[in-house]
Amino acid sequence: MRKIIINGGKLLKGEVAVSGAKNSVVALIPAIILADDVVTLDGVPAISDVDSLIDIIELMGGSVKRDGETLEIDPRGVKDMPMPFGKINSLRASYYFYGSLLGRYGRAIVGLPGGCDLGPRPIDLHLKAFEAMGASISYETDAMRLATDGQPLHGAHIYMDTVSVGATINTMIAAAKAKGRTIIENAAREPEIIDVATLLNNMGAHIRGAGTDIITIDGVEKLHGTRHQVIPDRIEAGTYIAMAAAIGQGIRVTNVLYEHLESFIAKLEEMGVRMTVEEDAIFVEKQDNLKAVTVRTSPYPGLATDLQQPITPLLLKAEGRGSIIDTIYEKRVNHVPELARMGADISVLGGQIVYQGPNKLVGAPVKATDLRAGAALVIAGLMAQGQTEITSIEYILRGYSNIIEKLTALGADIQLLEA
Ligand code: EPZ
Repeated sequence: MRKIIINGGKLLKGEVAVSGAKNSVVALIPAIILADDVVTLDGVPAISDVDSLIDIIELMGGSVKRDGETLEIDPRGVKDMPMPFGKINSLRASYYFYGSLLGRYGRAIVGLPGGCDLGPRPIDLHLKAFEAMGASISYETDAMRLATDGQPLHGAHIYMDTVSVGATINTMIAAAKAKGRTIIENAAREPEIIDVATLLNNMGAHIRGAGTDIITIDGVEKLHGTRHQVIPDRIEAGTYIAMAAAIGQGIRVTNVLYEHLESFIAKLEEMGVRMTVEEDAIFVEKQDNLKAVTVRTSPYPGLATDLQQPITPLLLKAEGRGSIIDTIYEKRVNHVPELARMGADISVLGGQIVYQGPNKLVGAPVKATDLRAGAALVIAGLMAQGQTEITSIEYILRGYSNIIEKLTALGADIQLLEA
């Protein structure tokens, strides 16, 4: 079992570059199956989720050439066959293959998706959209069969009961080659949705309104190849900005689209964090006397649920009482007991997280329970006096490319130990 060891308490300094967005690339790669030609992606992050998706594409007959952050994907060899179940369970976002296999073959036989432990993570809205477009759903042993009766999918008018990133993207992917017009109402507005729509449109699709709550897709016969630059990862950016405010003495976070982080930056400024917004970077000075605040997550452009965990160690440093309410995943609290083991005055009370600061954290053995909880523990370890040992770090490596190298370059005493 690999683990991360951090000797904390050292102030960090320098520059860190944000990589391509995980929550975009995990949709872009499956969407490429719809193309009748090679598609090249630039700015692909070095994360294990990408490795898993490349494995799935190759196991199904496609070919992928990787050169650093560039992926050249030729989907023409992908067969109309059941997906490799082993790979499915490690990656919730493998559900994007449902939309692209249905869109290409009118059939998808898949295992049920896995992912982090954030409480129940249904896919009923994805399935409702596929059924509205003419697919029928049946269950076999630990697999699900989505299939039309030989006809291509047809357009539909779909109202999303809950704002859902995954269901919005999956519906867009399935609708790109469906017969006729699909309208998605109450669509999610995350930047990753715009990124997927941009790729599909550059492949020849007709998608309008991505980034608003109504998206219109007019299906086309064919989708051709293209080249696409993945947008920067706003969650990785927010993680490093919070870390810079917590334990930095002058850190520039580069490759940042400020407009993707406005609600997050506003919350830090409410705490008293001093930052300078530059062309495509944020410079964060050394901070002192920060004020405790209340954090409430909401769908984009609100404060991202994925950032409530990484911001928590910074909150612990602030003066006063505060709370964190995750309106999207109420159970996204597994990092709280781990932070308490490091001496933090933090607990879960009636569905919300409450904390009292300032806290002097002390290194301890802790466990990453999900991707962003792991990121919070890394930041807490950098702040704490003494040694912190983090286990179950596979979660962290799923979403943060080259995190050890990036933090070491800032002066952190951090290493990844192979057990
Ligand atoms: C995406 O997950 C992200 N993952 C998550 O990031 C992120 O936390 C989440 O969006 C925020 O909305 C990827 O993009 C790969 P949702 P997704 O569908 O699409 C409910 C990370 O840390 N819902 O937007 O799975 C659901 O239970 C990960 O990078 C249904 O009820 O999330 C949740 O309460 C963690 N039925 C709400 O909607 C459905 O069919 C938002 O979920 C689908 C979702």
